[in-house]
Amino acid sequence: MATVHQRAGRPVVQRLSIDRSIGNPIAPQCLFEKFQSQTMEETAMPTTVGTEADEKTMIGHLINLEHDAIAAYESVIDKLDNASHKERVTAFKADHDQQVAELRSIAAELGMEASSNGDFKKLLTTGKIALANLGGDKAILRAMKTNEDDTVQAYQQARDNSAARPEWRSFFEKALADEERHRAWFASAE
Ligand SMILES: [Fe+2]
Repeated sequence: MATVHQRAGRPVVQRLSIDRSIGNPIAPQCLFEKFQSQTMEETAMPTTVGTEADEKTMIGHLINLEHDAIAAYESVIDKLDNASHKERVTAFKADHDQQVAELRSIAAELGMEASSNGDFKKLLTTGKIALANLGGDKAILRAMKTNEDDTVQAYQQARDNSAARPEWRSFFEKALADEERHRAWFASAE
């Protein structure tokens, strides 16, 4: 069972993707087994991406989140049976490609060395999709919806973060609108 604790007055379920005591990712097979013993809801936890006090750290984390999201999209497109689902998810992935390009351009302006890969969460997202794949299109789309919860929250937090530059706000607003549109579709697609 996941560990539940309180933060800011609401219950938070601790993610189990990384053993932070040693900084190593859990092997994919172990991750898969953890998912088998947990419900999708139990693995959900609000992301802290977008709340960073330092602008470079925030942009770096947003880039990692986008790479993870893109990896999840890439892992599901071929698994979907319905052609209209594939078409829609491919279009959503293109939104993420644009978002990561914009973030990388901001990173370049800040003189940052931007990552071209995601972080350990990629194991979580792809593991979740692997499990959902057993249930067909609907289960895959519902699993993807939980990833959209993270991107919606991250862009809301980035938009409202006082560490973010005012000139970035219109990009954050646009990305947030895209992610809310993605989430609504994943939540209702049949
Ligand atoms: Fe999305």
